[in-house]
Amino acid sequence: MGITNNDLVLQNPHSFLTGFFLFIVAGVLLYLAYQWALPKPIPGIPYNEEAAGRIMGDMPSIVAYMKEHGRLRPWFAKQPVRHGSPLIQFWMTPFSKPKLILSDYQEAQDILLRRSKEFDRSTRSIQVFLTIPDHHIAMASTDRRFKGNKELVRDLMTPKFLYDVSAPQIYSKTTALVELWTLKAELANGRPFDARRDIFDAAIDIINAATFAFDDSLCTVKHQLDYLATTDSRQLPVNPDGSVDFPQLPELDDIAVVHALCDHIGNQFKSLKPKLSHKFKLLTDSSFRRNLARKDELITQEINKSLQRFESGDNTMFSAMDHMLQREREAAKKAGRKPDFHSRRIYDELFGYIVAGHDTSSSALKWIVKLISEHQDVQNKLRSILQAAYPAALAESRQPNETEITKTSIAYVDAVIEEALRYASPLPVVLRETTMDTILLGHHIPKGTDIFMPSSGPGILMPALPVNDNVRSETSRTKHWGGKWNEQDMHLFNPERWLKTDETGKIQYDSQAGPFLAFGLGPRSCFGKRLAYLEIRMVLVLLVWNFVFKPLEGELASSMAVDSLTSNPKYCYVALEKVQR
Ligand code: HEM
Ligand SMILES: *[C@@H]1O[C@H](CO)[C@@H](O)[C@H](O)[C@H]1NC(C)=O
Ligand SMILES: *[C@@H]1O[C@H](CO)[C@@H](O)[C@H](O)[C@H]1NC(C)=O
Repeated sequence: MGITNNDLVLQNPHSFLTGFFLFIVAGVLLYLAYQWALPKPIPGIPYNEEAAGRIMGDMPSIVAYMKEHGRLRPWFAKQPVRHGSPLIQFWMTPFSKPKLILSDYQEAQDILLRRSKEFDRSTRSIQVFLTIPDHHIAMASTDRRFKGNKELVRDLMTPKFLYDVSAPQIYSKTTALVELWTLKAELANGRPFDARRDIFDAAIDIINAATFAFDDSLCTVKHQLDYLATTDSRQLPVNPDGSVDFPQLPELDDIAVVHALCDHIGNQFKSLKPKLSHKFKLLTDSSFRRNLARKDELITQEINKSLQRFESGDNTMFSAMDHMLQREREAAKKAGRKPDFHSRRIYDELFGYIVAGHDTSSSALKWIVKLISEHQDVQNKLRSILQAAYPAALAESRQPNETEITKTSIAYVDAVIEEALRYASPLPVVLRETTMDTILLGHHIPKGTDIFMPSSGPGILMPALPVNDNVRSETSRTKHWGGKWNEQDMHLFNPERWLKTDETGKIQYDSQAGPFLAFGLGPRSCFGKRLAYLEIRMVLVLLVWNFVFKPLEGELASSMAVDSLTSNPKYCYVALEKVQR
């Protein structure tokens, strides 16, 4: 039998009182600890009631949402809608400060463009990219290394560099995809096939080429083409859904290394504690450590190859790497020091091209291929506009060449690309953190608060939420620019929304027609945006020039998405017919 209160009193009244006192103290302490651990809302900003009443905050809802939908990202755009408020707060993990979701384009534009002193790259983003700690993506703007890194990559996105150096690289890899799909179109005989791997491969070939100018031995699409050409694929088994599968080579070893590292960063995006999960991975996963080392080895090899070529007197630039090396050589000469071609900074800025530029472009290309299959009117219009824009290529029955594609501006092409990125943003959320106590839509926001700004939310894909103009910042009220989308059709894919007719009756592309956040905005917006546009344009032009993307049915046409580093279509099939000319 246990000791009852009665026993205690009788045996030792003194110890009972002490015990009772300790019990009360412990109770009070527990209560205080519980109160301390409960989420503390920022006054005046809506939040989920159930989250504020538990130590775990919104985490259980987030976990449940991820379980149900297999992805988290749409949750961000849903919360402001749920509360009918453009600014809401939530608690992602226990014992954490509230984070904010801002779904108002005008104020987001103000934060990103004009208030970058108060809102910088977030600590969370920096931790996500711990795989490349010396890349500028993993630095606050106040980091003393930041300026030097930006200096190193300064000219890489100028039209001159892109057209002269990157465009030929991108063109040659895109041509390989056209060749592969020409063969597949013939073998599939009009039946659909899964395009995800080919687009993923083409995107990695393209970004590898722009970054390192790898030779064809590392060109994955070329390998697939050679393999398919020598495999007997005349009798492809047809799946119940009408699609066919092609035999496929496993990934090349070195590409698998890159892929695994990018996958880790994709997981980092989803991690609730990215710093912890990165350290854990480093400690526990020896294949991850091997991949990191192999990646560095690959870069060392490529750097040495270029340096040897420079030494022999050939200073031609083929890649972003060549440019960085020559820049380092000049900087060292100016400063009277020895050049350091093997610095962590150069290695990370180079690998950052792949990390930031592969999955993003791959996602964008997959969505665009789906969208033109779904919207036959857009595809047909695009093809006839291209045929009119490249009359020489049409007359000579050849491909538009790289100069023609880069130098001919075609409003409708710009509109289709922009609309695809608006409609299906590869990265649906832009993130910033307050660097000081500040005010946002009339609310006091403490320093160190994360702010998530959905690029697929209200104002962009669904009706904007109401905001009282008086609570907007001064610069937001006086300096904002750009149109607004029509609420009736903003949820639809329609490139026409980006076009306007000028005074002379000419149709122009209007990049400010309405809210768009796919590349972020301001000093910390996407560094590689111009390269991305160039790549998407080349791929889109050459694909639509060469193939009719026939409409798809059933599950193959599903618009469901899955999230890795970026958001990707779950189903990305193409049914191709070669354009005859
Ligand atoms: C369709 C393709 C792409 C999309 C949708 C995309 C999107 C984005 C977004 C949303 C951001 C964050 C912007 C912000 O916080 O304001 C970003 C940052 C960045 N992107 Fe891209 N990106 C793409 C392609 C590329 C490519 C090809 C590169 C190649 C170099 C690249 C390099 C970067 C870098 C370095 C940053 C960080 C910039 C900084 O921290 O200052 N991106 N990108
Ligand atoms: C590359 O060059 C560096 C410096 O000259 C040298 O230390 C290194 O061994 C070389 N590595 C390879 C893989 O060629
Ligand atoms: C591309 O075609 C144009 C004619 O439209 C020609 O003048 C130009 O030299 C060609 N460029 C290349 C790189 O072949």
